[in-house]
Amino acid sequence: MEVINTIAALKLLLQPRKLAKQKIALVPTMGALHKGHVSLIKIAQQNADIVVCSIFVNPTQFTDPKDLEKYPRPLEHDIEMLQAAGCDYVFMPSVQEMYPAPEEWHIDLGNAEFLLEGEFRKGHYQGVTQIVKKLFDAVDPDLAFFGQKDFQQVLMIRNMVAYFGLDLQIISCPIIREDDGLAMSSRNIHLSAADRQNALVLSRALQYVQDNFSAGNINDLLEKAHRMINETEGVQLDYFTIADTETLLPEQQKGVKKLVALVAAKVGETRLIDNMILN
Ligand code: PAF
Repeated sequence: MEVINTIAALKLLLQPRKLAKQKIALVPTMGALHKGHVSLIKIAQQNADIVVCSIFVNPTQFTDPKDLEKYPRPLEHDIEMLQAAGCDYVFMPSVQEMYPAPEEWHIDLGNAEFLLEGEFRKGHYQGVTQIVKKLFDAVDPDLAFFGQKDFQQVLMIRNMVAYFGLDLQIISCPIIREDDGLAMSSRNIHLSAADRQNALVLSRALQYVQDNFSAGNINDLLEKAHRMINETEGVQLDYFTIADTETLLPEQQKGVKKLVALVAAKVGETRLIDNMILN
């Protein structure tokens, strides 16, 4: 496995692979890797000849400077994990490499940009799509793999790809959970033992809604999920919604649309998100 720090070096390494018509997969990450990321690498390996994993904590997607500052960066551990997973290349650029000059970025990501996470983290998806476009330009992948845990992020990236008419496939991969249901996240290390226990209510509420979806009506399911979360100590709910997977608009009725339940809450000092597809 090779670790590369510049776009020029990366392009040079990938060029012969492209000429040989090998399929290149990109797994973009911000590091602090866990089993969820490893599952992305594994799925990428099954679908491509070469897997590039990027590790870059992207400043433009953080709305809270304190969040950026405390974002975990266990680089040696990350590299060991990627090596063990059989990743081919790790792209680990500096901020200067990705943002050599001040730049403006604003594209139309559709109305869903302003819902849910977009409401709580204003401008977040502009930052995410800005860096993902730069990573796509650097790697020129045939496929790119993202975790379904960031459900809205995958939708925004698909919208960015459509906006620029990029020729690559975006693949959303299943959420990987701890044995007790907690969705894996780089932020989980900030949870105290009590937070960790309290956080379980998020996956439990989602699971309740999924298990009872065919029998229950949407308002009752939402009421129960809200109650479960609001009754849990140390958990402050931002939203729990049942929404159309394409528009992210809330749905009151079951019909032909594909629906997803999405939740975000602050558990202690840590903000967590999770979701489950319902039909
Ligand atoms: O999901 C993430 O880790 C980040 O938002 C991403 C897609 C790597 C962009 O910085």
